[in-house]
Amino acid sequence: MKLVFFLPLVAAAALVGGSVAVAGDPSPEATRLVYQGADGIASCASCHQPNGWGDFERKAPSLSGLDPEYMAAQIRNFAAGNRKNELMDPIAKALNETQIAETTALYANLPKRSDASPPADPELAALGARIATRGAWDREIPACEQCHGPGGQGVDKNFPALAGQRSFYIQAQLNAWRSFSRKGDPNGMMKGIAERLSAREIEAVAAYYDSLGTAPAAEAPAAAPAAQPEGAP
Ligand code: HEC
Ligand code: HEC
Repeated sequence: MKLVFFLPLVAAAALVGGSVAVAGDPSPEATRLVYQGADGIASCASCHQPNGWGDFERKAPSLSGLDPEYMAAQIRNFAAGNRKNELMDPIAKALNETQIAETTALYANLPKRSDASPPADPELAALGARIATRGAWDREIPACEQCHGPGGQGVDKNFPALAGQRSFYIQAQLNAWRSFSRKGDPNGMMKGIAERLSAREIEAVAAYYDSLGTAPAAEAPAAAPAAQPEGAP
């Protein structure tokens, strides 16, 4: 009797184990940190949400589908004081390198945010689209797409996806560069751009990327390797 039940179970376990391994099964430690918290570290999901799409109340960004090395670099930036946030700073300081690598790998493999907000103000959305795709060269503002890729889908570990982030977060980051509270961007690339944008342009480009959504990636199977940005050459 026991044997009859045992054999199919082993077969099923082998099947599940095999298919999950391809998708990059998160480590038990990563799963614990992200969904339950551990060692006095609050669960990542308590702020970034279980689906990783971020949270308006806590002003937490979406992490799902972001490049894992980009995320790891940002956690180190919080720990080093290059970025400042009273919620994220203590978490970043408490994480060791293994925990950083494993939690960012988990989020990189989650499906990207797909609940895009339609633009409330069409005029603002049009201005945002212009800045994103053409820039404003008379004021040395390059198109955001030149670095962040077509549709703001991100390019490798250096240029994070903007599609998938909410307006409040994009605005907060551009303002953080303007006020010297976010540093650590390679060659100060973002600081210069943020300083040349007007307050209305910041609002517009943030609304534009919030409205884009990430449809192709969101529809892809969860097993798709998240480290391959669509905009990559
Ligand atoms: C108490 C709330 C809170 C918890 C818990 C938390 N975070 Fe955050 N996290 C934030 C906030 C808020 C920000 C945005 C800070 C800012 O605006 O600069 C952030 C930013 C980040 C970023 C930067 C993303 C980007 O696009 O640059 C990463 C990566 C990150 N968190 C990873 C994690 C991981 C991994 C965990 C769990 C180990 C975690 N966070 C736990 C609140 C939290
Ligand atoms: C010359 C290349 C370049 C251009 C052009 C550029 N960016 Fe960036 N951007 C970067 C880099 C590099 C980073 C990552 C900074 C870091 O590692 O801290 C970044 C990061 C960001 C972030 C932070 C995302 C996050 O997850 O925290 C926002 C928001 C952003 N850029 C908005 C824009 C907007 C809006 C435009 C167009 C007006 C733009 N960028 C144009 C290079 C660029």
